[in-house]
Amino acid sequence: MNPNTPWQMARRAARMNPSIIREILKVTERPGIISLAGGLPSPETFPIAAMREASERVLRDAPKEALQYAASEGYGPLRDWVAEDLRGHGMTVDASQVLITTGSQQGLDLVGKVLIDAGSRVAVESPTYLGALQAFAPYEPEFVALPCDDNGPLPDALALAQGARFLYVLPNFQNPSGRCLSEARRNELVTQAQALKLPLVEDNPYGELWFDAPPPAPLASRWSEGVVYLGSFSKVLAPGLRLGYVVAPKPLVPKLLQAKQAADLHTPSFNQRLVCEVIRHGFLHEHVPTIRARYKAQRDAMRAALEHHLGATCRWTVPSGGMFFWLELPEGVDAMQLLPHAVQRGMAFVPGAAFYADAPRPNTLRLSFVTVAPDRIEQGIALLAQALKEHA
Ligand SMILES: Cc1ncc(COP(=O)(O)O)c(C=O)c1O
Repeated sequence: MNPNTPWQMARRAARMNPSIIREILKVTERPGIISLAGGLPSPETFPIAAMREASERVLRDAPKEALQYAASEGYGPLRDWVAEDLRGHGMTVDASQVLITTGSQQGLDLVGKVLIDAGSRVAVESPTYLGALQAFAPYEPEFVALPCDDNGPLPDALALAQGARFLYVLPNFQNPSGRCLSEARRNELVTQAQALKLPLVEDNPYGELWFDAPPPAPLASRWSEGVVYLGSFSKVLAPGLRLGYVVAPKPLVPKLLQAKQAADLHTPSFNQRLVCEVIRHGFLHEHVPTIRARYKAQRDAMRAALEHHLGATCRWTVPSGGMFFWLELPEGVDAMQLLPHAVQRGMAFVPGAAFYADAPRPNTLRLSFVTVAPDRIEQGIALLAQALKEHA
């Protein structure tokens, strides 16, 4: 710290780091670059007309309520909708267990605030969502990175997490790996977690974005007292609304609510009413299939391009939903070092190292297929293959 400044940072500030993804995105926003690095949904999927009409209805029918402070738990009809929707996915949920949050990212922060003490252990997948590592890190946990295969955490490895406050897990089309846990793996994980008394934090922003068949039921449907479940409207409507939710076992709800109150009093009333107005008559049943169809075509374009240009040198599994491919470059190639060469050629990706809580695998990288048109995806992967050929 500069000795001339009167400010002294809290110890936790040292645990806060700039998101490497944001740093990379700054470089890749150069015009003309084919960026497969972003984690954003396609803006072509945003239901602008429906939002405009609903917004007018909200401002006509309940303008004062929509613009006033409101309850920290969230807007009642929206909490009811979430509870009903999740019951449709096999979960036992009462609306009183649903807190509407300012994005599910806030849900991660609240979970960290309420459950993590400095020095306590938090288990995560390897790799895992970078934003969760960023949300938990200021609470000073000791991360335990569990070994995983293409089907998620290895059940036998859960013993490594014994005594941890929770295991953070993304069963559906994980960010970054794209993997989706099978029915059998979900059952094994929950059985092991129950035996170890290891609570789970299940993060599911991508579950509705499946391409051929819906994923198996959430972990929370298998162990309602032992799972905190996080959901989001970011990938099915629009992320700028900042609307997500936490569904917690009843004993946790009051503390999460107090943490929410202290953080921002409540999630924006107008946005909650707006979304409720848009979705209450089944809008998502028509809208989400259009997103699935679009992303599936883009996934297919990336799969074909990968097979064509990198089939002989790299490894990946084809995601059955979500937004990402996870690529393993040949052993010994460092994706971080490859990136500037790829950018110079005109394409960008996110090096995988950012997504590991410990021992990163430098030869991995994440590719998003949702914001770039299929022909540009093909060009982008061709450029990646050229960069790899010349600089690996
Ligand atoms: C796995 C995961 N969890 C949570 C979030 C946060 O989503 P939001 O705060 O927009 O609901 C994201 C965003 O990309 C994500 O990929």
